[in-house]
Amino acid sequence: MKKYKVGYTAGGFDLFHVGHLNLLERCKQMCDYLIVGVCDDDYVKNIKHKEPVFKEDERVRILNALKCVDRAELVNFEITDDKMFALKKFHFDVLFSGDDWKGSERYNKTEADFSKVGVSIEYLPYTKGISSTDIKKKI
Ligand code: CTP
Repeated sequence: MKKYKVGYTAGGFDLFHVGHLNLLERCKQMCDYLIVGVCDDDYVKNIKHKEPVFKEDERVRILNALKCVDRAELVNFEITDDKMFALKKFHFDVLFSGDDWKGSERYNKTEADFSKVGVSIEYLPYTKGISSTDIKKKI
């Protein structure tokens, strides 16, 4: 019996790498059904100020092909920025996030919002030494 039924996590997941895989496998160990929100190209370009190497549809396809992901879907600015919109759309019991977000203004607000509606947040360890940005630099 897993701790949660439906879990949600989100990110850009460009140049899919083992740090992404570690995170998603840990999420799936804790929930029966894992939904992944994939930030659209507009968000990656305009908010993260990064040029996606893999286009949004390709990033979604790669995630949907993984054994540890039950459903991956493109998400827009509103759903990425305010997790209450993500909750309205996907109806999950737990939000998973890398522990690099713990204590940030956005997640402090999300913790307060979610505690009112009984939704959990689990912070999972960020894999050190690898990121899409690092891979781009190396290439
Ligand atoms: N993540 C992780 N370990 C890494 C890289 C990412 O656990 N080494 C997690 C992030 O915490 C996030 C998800 O993977 O929950 C998607 O992160 P994303 O920002 O797309 O990955 P990065 O490789 O960090 O991309 P970038 O360098 O563009 O920020």
